[in-house]
Amino acid sequence: MEMELRPPGFAYRQGTLCCEQAPLARLAEAHGTPLYVYSAASLRARYEAFEDAFRRVPHTVCYSVKANSNLGILRLLGKLGCGYDIVSGGELQRVLTVDRRAGARVVYSGVGKTADELDAALRANILLFNVESESELAALARRATALKRRARVALRVNPDVAADTHPYISTGLHEHKFGVPLAEARRLYTQMKREPRLEPAGVSAHIGSQIMEPAPFCAAVTRLAELARELRSEGMDIRYLDAGGGLGIPYQMQPEAADFRNHVSAYARAIVAALRGAKLHLLLEPGRAIVGPAGVLVTRVVYAKRNDGKSFLVVDAGMNDLIRPALYAAHHEILPLSLDAAAPANRQISYDVVGPICESGDFFARGREMPEMPEGGLLAIMDAGAYGMSLASNYNTRPRPAELLVTGRTVREIRKRESFQDLVRLER
Ligand code: LLP
Repeated sequence: MEMELRPPGFAYRQGTLCCEQAPLARLAEAHGTPLYVYSAASLRARYEAFEDAFRRVPHTVCYSVKANSNLGILRLLGKLGCGYDIVSGGELQRVLTVDRRAGARVVYSGVGKTADELDAALRANILLFNVESESELAALARRATALKRRARVALRVNPDVAADTHPYISTGLHEHKFGVPLAEARRLYTQMKREPRLEPAGVSAHIGSQIMEPAPFCAAVTRLAELARELRSEGMDIRYLDAGGGLGIPYQMQPEAADFRNHVSAYARAIVAALRGAKLHLLLEPGRAIVGPAGVLVTRVVYAKRNDGKSFLVVDAGMNDLIRPALYAAHHEILPLSLDAAAPANRQISYDVVGPICESGDFFARGREMPEMPEGGLLAIMDAGAYGMSLASNYNTRPRPAELLVTGRTVREIRKRESFQDLVRLER
């Protein structure tokens, strides 16, 4: 019996949850838990869905490195022709580590770029600086002059578009710290003409994350395209429109990937329509939509316990490994790796699935109906590829999980499990 969950990455085969051709339980035995496992086929398919959906317009997909910055994943995407969206000097170094000529495909966003970070990006001759304030523009002009380099610049404008998402990850309203208001952007573009080292080359926006509907993207890109038209009419050579990232994924259990291509197509139609034939090179910064459903966090039940009639599964992963439920009240499906072992009598129980960390916020699910799980049983927390490992910490002196990348039957450890020695190496 086959049951697709996140094709082509994750499926039950004969009652066993597999990443491609590798049974997750076998990986857990060999590599320990908690354990991040990613599917290369899934990453490829998801990147290609973007390529396909936007094939009619000149574009570059710049994968948002913050979603998952493992070198193995950056390398895989880079080989497919993907560019990168970065927000720090560290992310730039990661990208240059996998491909020292990748600068040509890098866009750099972020409200607090330091002089050192600007220097590194100027030296790498990145494709586009998404500048977020007047002060940053001045700093970039100073650094470019000092290094005798030219910078291609887009202002990240705040299109004042509301998107229906969690308040912590919504960014496109005027009250947020990101970008500059449209009116100020116009003034700054004009000011840029006086800076010989700065080249106004694009317009950009990012309205938030985990946005499921195409309409807000359409509204934002409409405003960006208008701005680009205006600036061109003033003689600026605006060539890039950076629509940011933010396309959401369904975290609920319906088999998703069958629909993923349609989901990306609807998103693409909304954006391409908003361009209204403008001759611009489109830049996209998806993170979650590419890597989220391509990864799971495998964890083992340490204890099953009952308190006053409430059933808990205490697992060996914690909020330090995957913080999304604690931080955003995010929903992640949690599935047993083995259907038979999980439910001898097919009994469903309402569980709180919690971690070992000393905080009440350390939970993965509350009151979740699941097959009865034995102690020692294994679970997969689904859709954990994005903002899982990249937000992981060592809280409670917990070494971060290992990460595996699966291609068919082949398993590559793309990050070793941390040891206690790794955690204290820099301490005296
Ligand atoms: N571009 C910019 C400028 C961004 O700030 C972000 C995400 C992206 C692209 C990628 O967005 P995506 O396609 O992944 O939605 N930790 C939160 C998400 C924070 C997103 C921050 N910015 C979460 O786990 O939901």
